[in-house]
Amino acid sequence: MTGHLVLVGLMGAGKTTVGQECARRLDRPFVDTDVEIERTAGHTVAEIFATEGEERFRARERDAVVEVCTRTEPLVVACGGGVILDPANREALRAAGTVVWLRAPAVELAARVGAGETRPLLADDPVGSLARLEREREPAYAAAAQVVVDTAGLAPTTVTERVLSAFAASEVRS
Ligand code: S3P
Repeated sequence: MTGHLVLVGLMGAGKTTVGQECARRLDRPFVDTDVEIERTAGHTVAEIFATEGEERFRARERDAVVEVCTRTEPLVVACGGGVILDPANREALRAAGTVVWLRAPAVELAARVGAGETRPLLADDPVGSLARLEREREPAYAAAAQVVVDTAGLAPTTVTERVLSAFAASEVRS
């Protein structure tokens, strides 16, 4: 059986860019949990945070993870950065396929996300916020992931190659 290829990591880790390229190369659909949430809610992630709060967003996120994990067609899934905070999400994703953690230093993540209002948790100090989130979430990413790909200084095409070869190796093992 072939499972999903699941990408986790902090905001700016490259989950969407690398995930879309992996999906193209594997000829699989690409699914982004944030996009699924936005479609179901009819609002953007920023709007959901502003009007419903983070807790309600996390509940929507859990629903999106459950939905994605029940799909039988093999997918490439990019997870919002906080998906791994919930142990049930971690377990469901690991059971549904191979979870790959795209890791990068906070300074580089901040440079990649740039300025903007789409990521409510970064507010006006992206480097500081990402450094704090990295410290807080490192154990959760480590617990979620079967594979770690260090992306520091690497172009998306190189990261894609590394993800795909790690994924192929993990599929052979399982
Ligand atoms: C979040 C990451 C975002 C989005 C939301 C919360 C987080 O997704 O789900 O703003 O808690 O790290 P990306 O990692 O795709 O930016």
